[in-house]
Amino acid sequence: MAKDAGWRQHLVGLPKRNHSSAAVRAKATLRRNVMNAVGADQAHVFDAFAGDGGMYRAVWHDAASYVGCDLVFHRDDRPAFVGDNRRVLRCLELADFNVFDLDAYGCPWEQAYIIAKRRKLRPGETIGLTITEGQAMKLKFGGMSNALGLVADVDFRRMAGMAKGQDWLMARAINNIADMMGARVTRRWEAVGNVGSRMFYIGLVLRGS
Ligand SMILES: C[S@@+](CC[C@H](N)C(=O)[O-])C[C@H]1O[C@@H](n2cnc3c(N)ncnc32)[C@H](O)[C@@H]1O
Repeated sequence: MAKDAGWRQHLVGLPKRNHSSAAVRAKATLRRNVMNAVGADQAHVFDAFAGDGGMYRAVWHDAASYVGCDLVFHRDDRPAFVGDNRRVLRCLELADFNVFDLDAYGCPWEQAYIIAKRRKLRPGETIGLTITEGQAMKLKFGGMSNALGLVADVDFRRMAGMAKGQDWLMARAINNIADMMGARVTRRWEAVGNVGSRMFYIGLVLRGS
């Protein structure tokens, strides 16, 4: 199913010894790029892992509209669902949104799969998708979430040392998500954390085909 989408990939700078504030800056930069590609005044953001609003304050407050979601209630002015984003994503009219932020600590693929199944693109339509993927340690020790196995369409979910193939798995997962949405990836920005759990921060622009 996965194929080379011919991405134009741009790396967002993370210093060699990156630290959390550098990662936050990189995350914000690629989100700003995605929002600008959609057009800030046309960007309707669903922030599925909204947390305490770091990315809202850094970027999404400039979007035309914003709705967050988090398991935890945060006492601030953001419109937000408090609950499990998987339930919310299954119920909401997703056509109302054209930017989806999946800033998970670990695995964003279950949410990406729900979105891909429910949010098809019209030909020529543009949407943004931002992803934080943090399964490097799990992959290193031979595990993989079922959701990543499903969207990457691989059946070897228990094999030590899979972290070496994380780029390849990400590429398959992203291409398959785009396929499911009836779209292709036209822009991609990425930053890879090089300390700790080697987080992947990815910003995508998809266009309906
Ligand atoms: C990495 S933090 C998000 C940071 C946030 N994007 C920001 O800009 O500050 C991950 C957040 O996802 C929330 N979370 C984890 N699983 C969730 C789920 N299934 N549904 C909704 N929120 C979830 C956690 O409560 C946590 O606040």
